[in-house]
Amino acid sequence: MKLSVFALSTSLLGASARPKASDYSLAGFAKDNPLGVTTGGAGGETITVTTPAALKAAIADTAPRTIYLTGNFTLTGRLSIGPNKSLIGTGPGANILANGFNIKSVSNVIIRNIGIRGITGNDGITIQNSTRVWIDHNEFESGGFPANGPDAYDGQCDIIRASDWITVSWNYFHDHWKSSLVGNSDALRDVDQGHLHVTYHHNYWRNEGTRGPAGRFGHQHVYNNLYEDYLFQAIHSRSDNQVLVEGNVFRGNTSEALSTYGLVIPNDSPNTSPDGDYELDGFANLGAKNDWGPASINITRVGNFTKAPYKYTLTALGDVEKVVKAGAGLGKI
Ligand SMILES: *[C@@H]1O[C@H](CO)[C@@H](O)[C@H](O)[C@H]1NC(C)=O
Ligand SMILES: *[C@@H]1O[C@H](CO)[C@@H](O)[C@H](O)[C@H]1NC(C)=O
Ligand SMILES: *[C@@H]1O[C@H](CO)[C@@H](O)[C@H](O)[C@H]1NC(C)=O
Ligand SMILES: *[C@@H]1O[C@H](CO)[C@@H](O)[C@H](O)[C@H]1NC(C)=O
Ligand SMILES: *[C@@H]1O[C@H](CO)[C@@H](O)[C@H](O)[C@H]1NC(C)=O
Ligand SMILES: *[C@@H]1O[C@H](CO)[C@@H](O)[C@H](O)[C@H]1NC(C)=O
Repeated sequence: MKLSVFALSTSLLGASARPKASDYSLAGFAKDNPLGVTTGGAGGETITVTTPAALKAAIADTAPRTIYLTGNFTLTGRLSIGPNKSLIGTGPGANILANGFNIKSVSNVIIRNIGIRGITGNDGITIQNSTRVWIDHNEFESGGFPANGPDAYDGQCDIIRASDWITVSWNYFHDHWKSSLVGNSDALRDVDQGHLHVTYHHNYWRNEGTRGPAGRFGHQHVYNNLYEDYLFQAIHSRSDNQVLVEGNVFRGNTSEALSTYGLVIPNDSPNTSPDGDYELDGFANLGAKNDWGPASINITRVGNFTKAPYKYTLTALGDVEKVVKAGAGLGKI
């Protein structure tokens, strides 16, 4: 009797209650790591910038600073972000156009609520030899799927050269070929091995080609992401890389959700042969159930990255599509 009354009241409550707000706080490797939690500009001054020149000046030094960006910033060259910075778009989000950001040889950077659009000749964001970076609630796009192949643009958010302790969360990546490369050469084992710990969660990838993400020599925890029309290959683990893949949802036209096969497919960006480049296979572990939709998976080597070394909350698989669409991208925080 008690039990049924309880069941009735909770189901009534469930039906009338508004959906629980998503938790947008930092989770994953940018939070729990040996160097300390990523805080960006916390504790420093707060300023608002509206021009590329003011933005450039505000990010140049090492002092902690929170920089609010308002409007559009059409950059005439790439900007390098100093350590201890938070760059946060105001309201519906600021836009970075034409040239992107370098986060190079620094630590402790947060980028949030910024549209990174139509970046030519280079990546939207390159994180190189840097630690403790949180890329959260941004939008990356290049205006349409490039008919002229994978190299029409470079990556949206590439993480290279021993970078470590990074979280990429709640971003909307769309209409672009190569999304997020982790480790940019199979010849860099000595540099990268033991680094490249990245958490990707609650990102929305739509109409993309490859690298969602593609990793070498590191560890990536990929959970609760939504992939829609990820045309050629989504998650790729190669060159002894390890991925833990759980609670992700694939929809639309996606041929391959996950592969550990070492071949860099012709639809990615092979360097030496139009048939693709061969390198060593990677590893994959599957945690909580994924919904692969129509996509295939190709796990050639099961690894030992069976459990993330931190606490995190998985969204129920059946809610991932709704929760990610509602929460990813600009103007949500
Ligand atoms: C800022 O960043 C540098 C390099 O990461 C660090 O050494 C420094 O202690 C940080 N804080 C301040 C106040 O500069
Ligand atoms: C700012 O950039 C966005 C995205 O490219 C564009 O849609 C918008 O029209 C731009 N706004 C202004 C005022 O230029
Ligand atoms: C990597 O960054 C550190 C600062 O964190 C710097 O001392 C070192 O020279 C950088 N290494 C390379 C190869 O750029
Ligand atoms: C899926 O995308 C691929 C690559 O663009 C294309 O060749 C194929 O025709 C598409 N399939 C469907 C069912 O749309
Ligand atoms: C795994 O991927 C390779 C390269 O794309 C392909 O040749 C092979 O047939 C795939 N195996 C499965 C089981 O999909
Ligand atoms: C995990 O697997 C890799 C690749 O085989 C190996 O190098 C590493 O030592 C293993 N780690 C542990 C803790 O067993």
